[in-house]
Amino acid sequence: MHTISDYQRFFLEYLSKKTITKEPKNLYEPISYILNLGGKRLRPILVLMASEIFNGSYEKALDAALAIEVFHNFSLIHDDIMDDAPLRRGKETVHEKWDLNTGILSGDAMLINAYQLFESYEGDTFRELAKLFTKTAIEVCEGQQYDIDFETRDDVSIDEYIKMIEYKTAVLVGAAMRMGAIVANASEKCSASIYDFGRLLGLAFQLQDDYLDAFGDPNTFGKQVGGDIIENKKTILYLKALEFASEDERKQLKGLFSLTPEDPTQKIHTVKYLFETTGAKDQTRLEIEEYTNKAFAVLDKLSISDDKKAVLKLFGEQLMNRNV
Ligand code: IPE
Ligand code: IPE
Ligand code: MG
Ligand code: MG
Ligand code: MG
Repeated sequence: MHTISDYQRFFLEYLSKKTITKEPKNLYEPISYILNLGGKRLRPILVLMASEIFNGSYEKALDAALAIEVFHNFSLIHDDIMDDAPLRRGKETVHEKWDLNTGILSGDAMLINAYQLFESYEGDTFRELAKLFTKTAIEVCEGQQYDIDFETRDDVSIDEYIKMIEYKTAVLVGAAMRMGAIVANASEKCSASIYDFGRLLGLAFQLQDDYLDAFGDPNTFGKQVGGDIIENKKTILYLKALEFASEDERKQLKGLFSLTPEDPTQKIHTVKYLFETTGAKDQTRLEIEEYTNKAFAVLDKLSISDDKKAVLKLFGEQLMNRNV
């Protein structure tokens, strides 16, 4: 077992070896742009880690790790179009730097390329990876559609929200871990448990993403702070604020979330104020902790060595306390 930063280094070395820009430039340049913008590389690290946890090699898992990072970056290009986002990892989004069509097509090519990377695996391993990937990718689309549908609904429940973030974000984190397990030929029981660990961590991760979208530091966050408020996203902050609000506050919040003002400064300010005063901000921190602890509870039941559990736990704790 290596350290988290070792896995990140292994992945980055592999990525730089694999990224090539060929013709047509307007298809491939945006791909290498987004893949080299940085990012936490959380999902590929988890693939490599899971492989070694189940006594496989990280080397054998590199193509699966790359596939998942390419897929993730594809989903970000299209997500930024759908969310009308100007910034990604502190830089212009692909559709802003190029244009909408470039974002659509480069994204499509990345999705196909992600699939192609599984061709390095043979027989059962290939079949299982492709099957898991297909199921997960479809779920991500479903989650993304719920996310967009919720923008114009004013009766979204917490349960519906949790299902939405499970699909758009958490299943991919679970799949990353399960892919490592598949490459390492782990048992079905172990694969299912590590998937569940990743899924729960993924839920905590998206709650934290929602939290940072409103309360992140604009100098370091790398995305437009308040983007979810501008887009009327029904995030955990919004849903908890509605739950805790007085009748007047609820009216005010619902009113603000039915508008899309030209200049959103005042709206963002008031909404954040309501997120704080209703207690939604504090409650969100508690929920993040709760889902992280649920993930850790799955870990406790897994029959792997204590030092392996410790690495996974450290990873979870770092995610919970991140500010990007
Ligand atoms: C952003 O994912 C999209 C979500 C699912 C919240 P990350 O926060 O992992 O993005 P990068 O890759 O580190 O930039
Ligand atoms: C993104 O959710 C989920 C996917 C990309 C599939 P968000 O829209 O919250 O992600 P960010 O905040 O733009 O990174
Ligand atoms: Mg987005
Ligand atoms: Mg989105
Ligand atoms: Mg977000």
